[in-house]
Amino acid sequence: MSQRARGDARLHVVVTAGPTREYIDPVRYLSNESSGRMGFAIAAAATRKGHRVTLIAGPVHLETPDGVCRIDVTSAREMLSELRAAFRAADAVFMAAAVADYRPARRLAGKWRKKDAGEGRAVLELVENPDVLATVAKSKGARQVIAFALETGQGTRRALAKLRRKNADYVVLNDASALNATRTSVTILDEGGEVRRLENQTKGAVARALVGLLRRR
Ligand code: CTP
Repeated sequence: MSQRARGDARLHVVVTAGPTREYIDPVRYLSNESSGRMGFAIAAAATRKGHRVTLIAGPVHLETPDGVCRIDVTSAREMLSELRAAFRAADAVFMAAAVADYRPARRLAGKWRKKDAGEGRAVLELVENPDVLATVAKSKGARQVIAFALETGQGTRRALAKLRRKNADYVVLNDASALNATRTSVTILDEGGEVRRLENQTKGAVARALVGLLRRR
């Protein structure tokens, strides 16, 4: 039998990837080191398995995998709006994006100038962004939700707390070495704890393992 999903086994999988960018003024922004490679690898692996894939991507320099429907976004709020829309028809969501937790309280129309800041110091007021995943996963129904967590200490405990807070089925725990790297080590957890540990694997191999978590409708 073919390895590709057919009929009922063909799921609509939504993947988010990359960083978000939160503008201070027309030329400056807050962002992070995420390359988007993990999310793009998941999108590629899922489509190769025959699933229908929507990829919601922050600003990244990566080619869209064949057969994937890509929606580009910039900020966390745009990502939330596109994810809300895609979520309705989704069977599963991989939330691999590194969403900025805060954004500048105001986006200036003109450049922020040194003279506006005062005496050798500048204070940038930030406000909290919505938790994109928690917002949509509150009413997830039968959808499978996979969160990601990057932790620098007490990884398992913190990752499990995130899984509960965000109503996820799995959380993929990695450490800071995963950022912008080609190989990575991850631990997949469900609410009962460790499900699988993958050591020093390519992101493609991790992606295939993650797509393997998907259950049929
Ligand atoms: N996430 C999200 N919306 C946010 C922040 C994070 O959807 N505003 C998602 C990420 O895409 C990831 C998971 O939540 O799947 C964990 O993100 P992380 O930044 O580690 O979690 P936070 O809740 O922001 O916790 P922390 O205080 O550790 O930064």
